[in-house]
Amino acid sequence: MSVALDLLLLTTSWAHVLLAPYNKVEESFNLHATHDVLAYGIGSESLSKYDHLVFPGAVPRTFVGSVVLGFLSRPAAFFASHLGAISTKADLQVVIRLVLAVYNVIGFSLLRRAVSRRYGGAAGVLFVLITCTQFHLPFWMSRTLPNMFALLPVNVAVYLLWNRYPNAMRPLQRDIHLAIALLTFTAVVFRAEILLLLGPVVLQALWQGYTKFWRVVKVGLISGAVSIALTVTVDSFFWQQWPLWPELYGIYFNVVQGKSAEWGVSPFHSYFTAHLPNLLTTSTFLSAVGALIDGRIRSLLLPVLAYVLLLSGLGHKEWRFVVYVVPIFNIAAARGASWLISRRKGSVFGRLAFLAVAGFLALNCVITFIYSVSSINNYPGGVTLARFNEMYADRRDVHVHISNLAAQTGASLFLQTHTPPYFPDLGVHPQHPTSDWVYNKTENITPEEITANRHITHVIAEVHNRHASVTGNVFKATRFPKGSWVMTAVIPAFERWRFHAGSLKLEPMKPWKVLEYVEIEKLVILERKEW
Ligand SMILES: *[C@@H]1O[C@H](CO)[C@@H](O)[C@H](O)[C@H]1NC(C)=O
Repeated sequence: MSVALDLLLLTTSWAHVLLAPYNKVEESFNLHATHDVLAYGIGSESLSKYDHLVFPGAVPRTFVGSVVLGFLSRPAAFFASHLGAISTKADLQVVIRLVLAVYNVIGFSLLRRAVSRRYGGAAGVLFVLITCTQFHLPFWMSRTLPNMFALLPVNVAVYLLWNRYPNAMRPLQRDIHLAIALLTFTAVVFRAEILLLLGPVVLQALWQGYTKFWRVVKVGLISGAVSIALTVTVDSFFWQQWPLWPELYGIYFNVVQGKSAEWGVSPFHSYFTAHLPNLLTTSTFLSAVGALIDGRIRSLLLPVLAYVLLLSGLGHKEWRFVVYVVPIFNIAAARGASWLISRRKGSVFGRLAFLAVAGFLALNCVITFIYSVSSINNYPGGVTLARFNEMYADRRDVHVHISNLAAQTGASLFLQTHTPPYFPDLGVHPQHPTSDWVYNKTENITPEEITANRHITHVIAEVHNRHASVTGNVFKATRFPKGSWVMTAVIPAFERWRFHAGSLKLEPMKPWKVLEYVEIEKLVILERKEW
């Protein structure tokens, strides 16, 4: 049973990898860093080939996660290539994401064990069912966001704080200190916001008398010093700046200088009114039930709520800053759900309670289905570059310019199929011995400048004008002069869901007609006329 539940978690996250293999811009730093670690190794002579030295991004990020992921992925890719499962670099990207999924499933599997131990097997099963039927975590936990590297140590810390027999009054002191050390490490190396979770966790442990103030200080100092030494050593090397502590720099840049506000500011309550309900879906209700019936759940949720409250003080808000609280809310939800399904089935309340839990899980599935359909079709850059690689596979001297939108929606280094580096030891060989294309990602250049550079043979261009039909008027849609380019492909992608409230009245037996999937032409492939 236990193994089956772990496998269910793994299959769910792996299914999301295979359904949506491409990446978005937030993932690209760590994805490309992992690419470079795998391709060039970590010697100082290979550093000049690394992507981040050419495209550094707004702030330096840590390499620690990517180096670890690179090392874990190599044996996995080696194994997969022996099974014949790898022939292109894009396959390697999939392997890397499958490995990251395994890394995060370990955390969930530990939490499930803790839930089963404290609340019984049924609660453990419900924890897994609730987690797997939600969309965001299973979809994102294989994606190379810094937050997804941070998720495992946070989950292990929660496990250490929470795992014990139901009759044990307190956790082991050793576990408390390990959890504090792990959260400190995560805050120093991966994501500084975890500091705001560490604070409430420590206060609660002190308040409950689980540990002593000076012990916490000692653990924090030791773990902090070791973590700082790690990140400064690794990142100063990769970024060629001494000394560099990326997360500290991030705080300085985003909070002290207030740069994060430039990415947009949301009202104070957004995490509670928008982001959390969206991430948790029906767990919102189930965790409320858990908190109502069980004091232990209230004390589990207290530091988490404090974390979200503290984080709400920052103007710039993103769902991924609070993603760590989702597994914890799911523990509460599993407790609530197991209480609901164990009411006496003879009573009306008992039967309704059981139906409610089943209904919530079914509703989760419907929401996840809708999200999945739109997300799968939301990576036009990946789709276009993959198509491009195939269309011109037998050509030489191709020089393609990749627009910003394409680079941000999936055109990663792993899709640069016809150019080095190749990975012969992992089963990725050049299709033709001579193929050596140029994939040009230069940013901020105009269509005129691209047209003027006679070396560029193709363009993956963005459709700027949504109202112009691409087939009718390429110039109006993309601003590329018609005289110089021929369009060879158009790639649509998800735009939005259109809501037809009235359709339920007209066709009550077809409720799915309420939502209409709308897509729009996003990218085009242009070929130089005299090429
Ligand atoms: C990419 O295109 C830009 C703009 O035309 C050009 O300046 C740059 O040299 C090109 N890159 C390569 C590697 O040819």
